[in-house]
Amino acid sequence: MEWWRHAVIYQVYPRSFADSDGDGVGDLPGITGRLGHLADLGVDALWLSPFYRSPMVDGGYDVSDYRDVDPVFGTLADFDALLAEAHRLGLRVIVDIVPNHTSSRHPWFVEGRRDRYIFRDTPNGWQSLFGGPAWTQVADGQWYLHLFAPEQPDLNWHNPDVRAEFDDILRFWLDRGVDGFRVDVAHGMIKDLAGVTLFDHEDVHEIHRGWRKILDSYPGDRMAVAEVFDTAPARVARYVSVGELHQAFNFDFLEAPWDPAVLRRIIDASLAAASQVGAPPTWVLSNHDRRRHVTRFGGVRRARAAALLMLGLPGSAYLYQGEELGLPEVLDLPDEVRTDPQWVRSGGAELGRDGCRVPLPWSGDAPPFGFGPGGSWLPQPADWAAVTVEAQRKDPHSTLSLYRDALRLRRPSTTLRWLDAPDGVLRFETETMRVAANLTAGPVRIEEPATLLLSSSEMAGELPGDTTAWWGV
Ligand code: NOJ
Repeated sequence: MEWWRHAVIYQVYPRSFADSDGDGVGDLPGITGRLGHLADLGVDALWLSPFYRSPMVDGGYDVSDYRDVDPVFGTLADFDALLAEAHRLGLRVIVDIVPNHTSSRHPWFVEGRRDRYIFRDTPNGWQSLFGGPAWTQVADGQWYLHLFAPEQPDLNWHNPDVRAEFDDILRFWLDRGVDGFRVDVAHGMIKDLAGVTLFDHEDVHEIHRGWRKILDSYPGDRMAVAEVFDTAPARVARYVSVGELHQAFNFDFLEAPWDPAVLRRIIDASLAAASQVGAPPTWVLSNHDRRRHVTRFGGVRRARAAALLMLGLPGSAYLYQGEELGLPEVLDLPDEVRTDPQWVRSGGAELGRDGCRVPLPWSGDAPPFGFGPGGSWLPQPADWAAVTVEAQRKDPHSTLSLYRDALRLRRPSTTLRWLDAPDGVLRFETETMRVAANLTAGPVRIEEPATLLLSSSEMAGELPGDTTAWWGV
């Protein structure tokens, strides 16, 4: 089985993982120095959010040079060192690729290569996903399209120069040895300006088929995972059908409430859609764009149960840095430290995504909790002293220990069979284990003949409320 079919992939948001030089912003040497944490945790791979040259209007998702590392994160030599150390530890590395738009400081935009962007004499009514109109006017009166911030002009994927450039960028990183890519806004690259199709245009698939050929021309199971949001499972499956990309994020699962009926429906739909095209299903509870699931679900207890539910499912799972520590969303950041364009462009009406990007607490009793020798670009809550990696590592009941145990016990599986269960309980069997998740508040009796492997809270004969347990088969 190819590694990505059952991989657990850990997302690193470089600004917030670990800082080596004391400027308060995480960097590549910081990540390299902390790879031992990921090896101990037992993940298979890491996905690095963008570390390319960027004016950082959108945390690096506004790229001005796709073939270089931004000085705030280090150098290409630092990247090579990170990759070599990860591989030495048995960890694969996938990097983010941002093909829908460049930064407005990218040389093409600066030099006025309008044929490579989407310029029009008159705008239509499209709105930017970050709020406000999706069109901005330039000095001579023309307008350019930006689905995100005005500093992120959308590329024109009908122009062969754009295609050739990205083929070359993919090769640049594959030649350096990366194991794959996370494709930003993979369903947005082709727009039907005459019609209404902003996302999921038919012609986008041809691009991904071309990329698959490039990936397949390299040895060693290189892969790509597509970000395709607000799209039905059967449509998402087309991005991972034969000859296209390998995986797509499961945003339906990420957006699900703590509700057994909804979760079961989403699990069934995800498994069905993936199996139709022979792709592995994927699961995810948090990322750098969404409110952390501890806060969404209303506490660490449920978050732990959700994690064991997710990691018990067949297929591949994505973890977001800090969820293994049970970190909550930081909701009370002072206004003046917030940087997210969602916050800025909505005039503060939307809190935005800074609250899930607060730098990780590694050790010690006071901020920056070992994040680096200086401060941290967003302030960390003082009570994170209790949840540092150091504080949790030796505690067998900590959330870190739960994730580590889960990853040690997890085995590849491909099928799921639902079993009878009391109301509010999701109970199923895979080739490798039995799982029961009790989403009610009170305990339920579950008779399992096999040995208990792991549970998200202490078992007392019964399966307590808001708890998931695993048994052997
Ligand atoms: C999705 C990324 O995950 C998000 O952080 C970014 O703001 C948008 N794409 C635009 O690149």
